[in-house]
Amino acid sequence: MPGNAGGHPTTPGAPTGAPDSTAAGARPEQGAERERQVRRIFSEIAPRYDLLNHVLSLNIDRSWRRKAVRALGVGRRPGGRYLDACAGTFDLAIEVAKTEGFRGRVIASDFAFPMLSEGRAKLAGRPILPTCADTLRLPFADGVFDGAMVGFGVRNLSDLDRGFRELRRVLRPGARLVILEFTVPPNRFVRFGYMLYFTRILPLVGRIVSGHPWAYSYLPASVREHPGPEDLAARLEAAGFASADWSLVTAGIAAIHVAAVA
Ligand SMILES: C[S@@+](CC[C@H](N)C(=O)[O-])C[C@H]1O[C@@H](n2cnc3c(N)ncnc32)[C@H](O)[C@@H]1O
Repeated sequence: MPGNAGGHPTTPGAPTGAPDSTAAGARPEQGAERERQVRRIFSEIAPRYDLLNHVLSLNIDRSWRRKAVRALGVGRRPGGRYLDACAGTFDLAIEVAKTEGFRGRVIASDFAFPMLSEGRAKLAGRPILPTCADTLRLPFADGVFDGAMVGFGVRNLSDLDRGFRELRRVLRPGARLVILEFTVPPNRFVRFGYMLYFTRILPLVGRIVSGHPWAYSYLPASVREHPGPEDLAARLEAAGFASADWSLVTAGIAAIHVAAVA
């Protein structure tokens, strides 16, 4: 895999059972500690990530991904170069490559090497280039991408504004950034069911299937701390995007943000 700007993460496979593998480890940390925490979580759950992703989202994530990729507007430059940042096991990148008439390339970057490694078998000759890189320090020149996406990744960034500025930097004028992310539903009845699922069922199923003691408790905690869509849109504009809009999907469980470069 080209590039290794993110360095090599911890060994994949079974959870380590290190001293902080307790409920305390489920709390999102800040700064550099958060980067280590996030990289460690995804490195450790990588072998089970795809299975759990589709089971825990009841497969709804597939339609969200398709919708997010449509918002990217690949048809405007079908031969272009696209970035899937925080790409994990490549589900978004693959969706772009499957777009009818697509003739371009997708650079799929993530700083957890085991996630890229797990996803490789799915690439099967598609024009996707896995790259081990940190979204806060992208190893690319200014303005080289015709579009960028982040699926369920921005919530994990230790410095969201820096991440937005970095994504803005690598986009050419006229390009779009699409962000697909969980959000807290506005309707209080939906919110009640969602929080119940997120704080009780999801951590339990996640723990049993992944064997990881706390990674799936980190998820609801990180969603709760993540800024809402209005705040996110304002921060995208503050990072240099000319406009930032969003739409909620599935009763506001997730949001798709589209930010444009002038
Ligand atoms: C929830 S997964 C999402 C993966 C994929 N985009 C998807 O839609 O399934 C979040 C991913 O973001 C990656 N990630 C988090 N912070 C990152 C950073 N600063 N730089 C690069 N990757 C990062 C993690 O390693 C993980 O693979």
